[in-house]
Amino acid sequence: MEKNNPRFSKRSFRASPDVALIKYWGKKDPILRLPENNSISMILKGLDANTTVEFREDLTKDDIAIQGMQSEIEGRRVVEHLDLIRNTTNIFAYAQVKSKNNFPKSTGLSSSGSGFAALTYAAFSSLGLEFSEKELSIIARQASGTACRCVCGGFVEWESGFSSESSYSHSIYPADYWDLRDIVVILSKDSKTVSSTEGHNLAKTSPFFSARQNHIENKLKEIKKTINNRDFTAFGEIVESEALEFHSILFTSHPSIVAWYPGTIQVIHEVFRLRKEGFEAYFTINTGFNVHVLTLPKDANVVRERISALSLVQEVLVASPGEKPNEIYDHLF
Ligand code: DP6
Repeated sequence: MEKNNPRFSKRSFRASPDVALIKYWGKKDPILRLPENNSISMILKGLDANTTVEFREDLTKDDIAIQGMQSEIEGRRVVEHLDLIRNTTNIFAYAQVKSKNNFPKSTGLSSSGSGFAALTYAAFSSLGLEFSEKELSIIARQASGTACRCVCGGFVEWESGFSSESSYSHSIYPADYWDLRDIVVILSKDSKTVSSTEGHNLAKTSPFFSARQNHIENKLKEIKKTINNRDFTAFGEIVESEALEFHSILFTSHPSIVAWYPGTIQVIHEVFRLRKEGFEAYFTINTGFNVHVLTLPKDANVVRERISALSLVQEVLVASPGEKPNEIYDHLF
């Protein structure tokens, strides 16, 4: 028996996570992962997930190795995604998968976004299949909402849609449209206690969720205007107030989610101080405790140094607008 299908090959991709500027929160269909609202993000060059995939006919089950895998759930999510790819392509072989990140996972830095984006690209390549970015976005979305954005580059909008085929992302501005910096502040590498997937299910238990729904369309319109005009002050004000609105919903969900650590507050106050001193910096936070501080290249060194010097900060990474996933040739196995 031939051991390997000649179409199959070992392929590796590098994908970056994103920072959500207008967040995806709440799902109108949790199985298909159709979000309640459109979301907008910036892909982060400098933070990487590398993934190698090889489908092989001699395997009797999927062989998954994720760096720092902390629970069986992570491995199961990968197998479920491979099942979706098998059912979509009608190719029923098992795969070997290995993945490695250069930033901590499950801490609010969208590691599932970059992880599943890299996996989706590498899996289709390993099967010898060509798929459009839109098709890859639709497939990746079903593994993790943020992955649906991380298959694209630059500044990205995810159209919430009303069916699986109409819910996908596209780039609204390329990475080189606006040179921004994201000072990614790592306060801890512990896994967050409530996953985003669990949190989405609680969104509607907050009395503030319906208020958000009432003005979200306007917010999306306004932030696109600020990106289009490269108006950093207006952009930063929207991003920061969006983060605070989002966390108000987390605080007031039942049961409540308090994602912040003491260091999160320390960073927020330093950002306020920096602004008072004339440095342009604005924060945003996802479901974890780690913080993104967005700034302009002219202020990035000062902002990085000041944030790094805070007593509760472990590490700081500097990211800028990034490209869509790209193929790499140093395989992980
Ligand atoms: C707060 O994409 O991690 O970061 O679809 O269940 O995998 P699942 O959730 P996930 O949710 C991300 C939520 C967020 C906002 C955002 O990135 O838009």
